Amino acid sequence: MDFPKADTFSQAIMRERSMGPNPLKLCEELLGHAEMPAGSVVLDLGSGAGLTSALMARECGLIVYAADLWSDPSDNMRFFEGLGLTNRQVVPLKADATALPFAYGFFDAVVSIDSYNYFGRDPEYLGEHLLPLVKRGGELLFAIPGMVRDCHDDLPACLLASWTPGQLDYMHDMGWWRTNLSQTEGVEIVDMWEMACTREAWADWIECDNEYAAGDRAAVEAGALDHLSTIAVRLRRR
Ligand SMILES: C[S@@+](CC[C@H](N)C(=O)[O-])C[C@H]1O[C@@H](n2cnc3c(N)ncnc32)[C@H](O)[C@@H]1O
Repeated sequence: MDFPKADTFSQAIMRERSMGPNPLKLCEELLGHAEMPAGSVVLDLGSGAGLTSALMARECGLIVYAADLWSDPSDNMRFFEGLGLTNRQVVPLKADATALPFAYGFFDAVVSIDSYNYFGRDPEYLGEHLLPLVKRGGELLFAIPGMVRDCHDDLPACLLASWTPGQLDYMHDMGWWRTNLSQTEGVEIVDMWEMACTREAWADWIECDNEYAAGDRAAVEAGALDHLSTIAVRLRRR
């Protein structure tokens, strides 16, 4: 696949700041399915080390709030400044997705890459904590690491080569996510699909030089990608 926006970032930066399957490619594929004009105010929820926030601000002209629980917002700000981005273009903050400090209707859109499965498995999460922050007509776009088919009752050995059953409980198939999201009122599921870039995003990730990527290598090399998928979700607030 071609990734003209993701490719503006060096391999070194991508490898240093990724926290899972190449977030730049996941983000670019997701944005290709959305309507988000330059100047839109976007929440990058679970932004990690800021790669996708930087892509959206620099390559799409979006105003991005980069909200994350584990990452250091000061480190992210230095990263953004190093790319020539200012605090008018991207705002780094530490925030818990279940207690977001924003006014109702503040955002034109939400993007969440490789993060929604940490807090969104509770079907009440969307309606209680996230949807009210988005304007009516605004879009929510998620790239969620998942399974081709839920297999929690009989987990294949290749998945267990890197992950415990407890960790795999965070992964579900498209049907499971559709049921989860359908329970919220006031939102339309515009589209859901299995992301085309999943395999190459994983290939980029296991080349990264950190202990988490190294830990995931055994499963991928044993054939885990035959069972894993990335579930893309496009929602619109009514
Ligand atoms: C696998 S990392 C992905 C980070 C980044 N989007 C990327 O793709 O590189 C998952 C992220 O979810 C964030 N996260 C988990 N639980 C969260 C919560 N309750 N509120 C906000 N962020 C959360 C973590 O801080 C972490 O950065």
